[in-house]
Amino acid sequence: MKRVFVNGYGSIGSRIIQFIADDHDVEVVGVGKYSPDERVSDAISRGFKVFVPKNKIDHFKNFDISGTIEDKISDCDLVIDASPGGIGYENKKTLYEPKNIHAIFQGGEKITGERSVASFIFNSRVNYEKAFDKQFVMQGSCNVTGMGKIIQPLKEKYGKKIKRLDATLLRRWSDLEDSKTVVKDSIEWSYNPHHDEDVKSYMGVDTPLFIRAFKVPTRQMHVHAMDVRFDGPAPNAQEIINIYKNEYGVATLYGVKGTKDIRDYAESIKFSFKDTNMIHIHADLTEVQDDVVKLTYSDDQTGIVVPENHLLMQAMLFKRKKEDAFRHTEELFHMYEKKRMLEAHFKE
Ligand SMILES: NC(=O)c1ccc[n+]([C@@H]2O[C@H](COP(=O)([O-])OP(=O)(O)OC[C@H]3O[C@@H](n4cnc5c(N)ncnc54)[C@H](OP(=O)(O)O)[C@@H]3O)[C@@H](O)[C@H]2O)c1
Repeated sequence: MKRVFVNGYGSIGSRIIQFIADDHDVEVVGVGKYSPDERVSDAISRGFKVFVPKNKIDHFKNFDISGTIEDKISDCDLVIDASPGGIGYENKKTLYEPKNIHAIFQGGEKITGERSVASFIFNSRVNYEKAFDKQFVMQGSCNVTGMGKIIQPLKEKYGKKIKRLDATLLRRWSDLEDSKTVVKDSIEWSYNPHHDEDVKSYMGVDTPLFIRAFKVPTRQMHVHAMDVRFDGPAPNAQEIINIYKNEYGVATLYGVKGTKDIRDYAESIKFSFKDTNMIHIHADLTEVQDDVVKLTYSDDQTGIVVPENHLLMQAMLFKRKKEDAFRHTEELFHMYEKKRMLEAHFKE
């Protein structure tokens, strides 16, 4: 049985470990924790073994920890690194490379420049098989993952007929369980947002994508407003909406007033972590004007990358056929059922 370690137990790491613990094809050996806070007890109470850095072991005297990260990962087949953005690179250099361990990195890292963690960004809809035989792969961030799920089906249907994709990203300030971060009463902008380059890295550098990104004071998801400009008259709105009918992890919703409506619904029907794990197209906001289709969709920031990590793990550990990997991910995440329920609740 393949042995997997999750390094980091924040918004993303805590979700990943909870889901993959139910995967009988792997043994989850434990999780890495760096601060001696209440989340150590949370992880232990959920049945996970907690490991800590050698040089901090004295700080965890009051907890029932199981050993050090450095020792434990030596006998693992794969580490899913869920450290804060940029720290994954340090871990690669100090832990994974010296111990010759395979690792998945998250979207806060880079794939270019001196601090690159991997040679490419994974998106299950676009390049699943590319992860076979790779030692290091980076999972795209939530926004970058969501954009692939929207753009790839458009590209497959319309190809060069698409002249431009102009997207404005409204990014959430913080996550639901991140109580330490103060959500400021301000709208901030990003200079040179990384999303543009990240999406083009796996969709092709010639993808005519132009992004502006703003951080807004909410914890409830991201929203993308994307204008798709065609070479000639645009297709009608229904034709665009129909493209996503059978897309995995894309729900088409009507009558939603805001992102919190979706979270509240997810909470009311007890989706794990209040996540939908998907993209939601707001169909009644889809408009066509001359050669432009105006699309609006929301992106479950914490949830969307979790099934992606599971798919990536299967590609790297087992080189599993794509359809089999999706089938297996479905057994853990129940995405079809979640999509069905969301679409039945927010219907036309
Ligand atoms: N949050 C999202 O919505 C989201 C979505 C997609 C992708 N991502 C990406 O996922 C990654 C993790 O984000 P997050 O939101 O989960 O961050 P987070 O909530 O701040 O959690 C980070 C975790 O990393 C741990 N950590 C600290 N130093 C570490 C080290 N040297 N090695 C490994 N782990 C370390 C922290 O441990 P202690 O708490 O014990 O100090 C904490 O548990 C980032 O690359 C981010 O860009 C985040």
